Amino acid sequence: MFNALQAETGAEIAALFAADPDRFARFSVQMVDILFDFSRTSMTPAARAMLLDLARAQDVEGWRDRMFAGARINTTEDRRVLHTALRLPEGTAFRADDEDIAGPVLATRARAYRFAEAVRDGRYSGAGGPFTDVVNIGIGGSDLGPHLVADALTPYRDGPRLHFVSNVDGAHLTDVFAGLDLTRTLVLVASKTFTTAETMANAHRARALIEAAVGEAAAPGHFAALTSAVDLAAAFGVPEERCFGFADWVGGRYSLWSAIGLSVMMGVGPARFDALLAGAHEMDEHFRTAPLDANLPVLMALTGIWHRSACRYPSRCIAPYDQRLALLPAYLQQLDMESNGKGVGREGNDLAAPACPVVWGSAGTNGQHAFFQLLHQGEVHPVEFLVAATGHEAEMMDQHDQLLANCLAQAEALMRGRDAAEVVETLTAAGWAEDAARAAAPNRRFPGNRPSTLLLYRRLDPRTLGRLLAAFEHRTFVEGVIWGVNSFDQWGVELGKELARSRLAAIRDPGGSEVPVALAGPVAHLQALRETPGD
Ligand code: F6P
Repeated sequence: MFNALQAETGAEIAALFAADPDRFARFSVQMVDILFDFSRTSMTPAARAMLLDLARAQDVEGWRDRMFAGARINTTEDRRVLHTALRLPEGTAFRADDEDIAGPVLATRARAYRFAEAVRDGRYSGAGGPFTDVVNIGIGGSDLGPHLVADALTPYRDGPRLHFVSNVDGAHLTDVFAGLDLTRTLVLVASKTFTTAETMANAHRARALIEAAVGEAAAPGHFAALTSAVDLAAAFGVPEERCFGFADWVGGRYSLWSAIGLSVMMGVGPARFDALLAGAHEMDEHFRTAPLDANLPVLMALTGIWHRSACRYPSRCIAPYDQRLALLPAYLQQLDMESNGKGVGREGNDLAAPACPVVWGSAGTNGQHAFFQLLHQGEVHPVEFLVAATGHEAEMMDQHDQLLANCLAQAEALMRGRDAAEVVETLTAAGWAEDAARAAAPNRRFPGNRPSTLLLYRRLDPRTLGRLLAAFEHRTFVEGVIWGVNSFDQWGVELGKELARSRLAAIRDPGGSEVPVALAGPVAHLQALRETPGD
């Protein structure tokens, strides 16, 4: 399927610009304030046309329309995929088959907003007074989405302080709880299934700590649950009125728009959460209606397909030049690698080539002082830059200018590189002897012609953030359709979960449970370490 595209690879990016003065206009797209610029890639005009044909041939529009309509496109779990319904504006009616979809969504949203407001203004308070701190306990999609948004919207936070505990490692909960006044701390247990081992272990520990602080009778008032499993939340001790549900058609990694976003609602207030939803809804409408060749998420996806399946790059580096998006690489790791990190197609067929690349990265400019060396002189990995035209720190605009300059300079340096002649010229101009300059040149040259894309937006406000995150979701979806996978299941994580349960028995009762030969060594060493006093 990708052979013809592969034959189109190998162009010099600089030559593509030289050949077409309008390359930027042809290889970029704008949606409200967001510009997606993919001109500094090796995609040729012919490749762009072929990628659009491929999208049509793979029926991206059909799959998109079926998703929005509520068809059961998550076939391995026989579920609809309707996270877009979570962003529907107040007053919208939407049914799939004969089921009312919008009604329950809007009702739960209104109830969550009321609860968030009551916590924010102190009408709903803890044993020690109004809540000063809210701790979200969850993992994967029940952590990364709200955590990312809470960080991204820091300038808009005027509610209780927000904290996130995800890891089963006791260090996480201990360190987050240290210093909190537990008599004024509200815990949100966020778990779609309410069975995830890490989350339940942390939730039980949190309950014990809160009980110790406020007593058994008052403790339940310090908990709320965000879950599809209302019965299990009730069994844990959270009454129905503080249980906020969502349907099974919301995948964990697509759930931040649901009740899973309650911590954010409390932190920034319902109006700003509404703006986040409105931004995402605008992107949904753009994705649903814009022609493929002017469709921002589609063009993001086609660039991803170009890099992965035509150029065969093994990874993509996410470089947000926006400190408050430092968690974006981790968030996109789950979104992309859990959705499309698959070797099996929708029909149960083995894929001819691996799908999703490795997703990694970190916030700029920090990455420049860590791994950018490899990006310039090592193996090729396309870089996805994100940057805002303006920051929130009006008194520090000079630093924002530096941030922007670094982001653009990196994109330029990756593309143009520096050859030996230029190195020699620069060094001799700086006073070096010709011989010394020639000797130094090999280490100081870099090949260039390295691709990058840019997402440039006005400012990281709630609405723009909503647009950006929805664009990434739809990009993942389109890539999944083209690779022919079901982007909405995650069977690959199950075996590890299962085995963890058996290994727990071996760790707790060394003699009582059989350990496979490949693990016998570390398990024996572990027991010996536990029996040896430390230094
Ligand atoms: O193990 C993967 C996963 O199922 C993710 O898809 C999900 O976001 C995470 O675990 C947490 O699941 P839950 O919200 O049910 O606790």
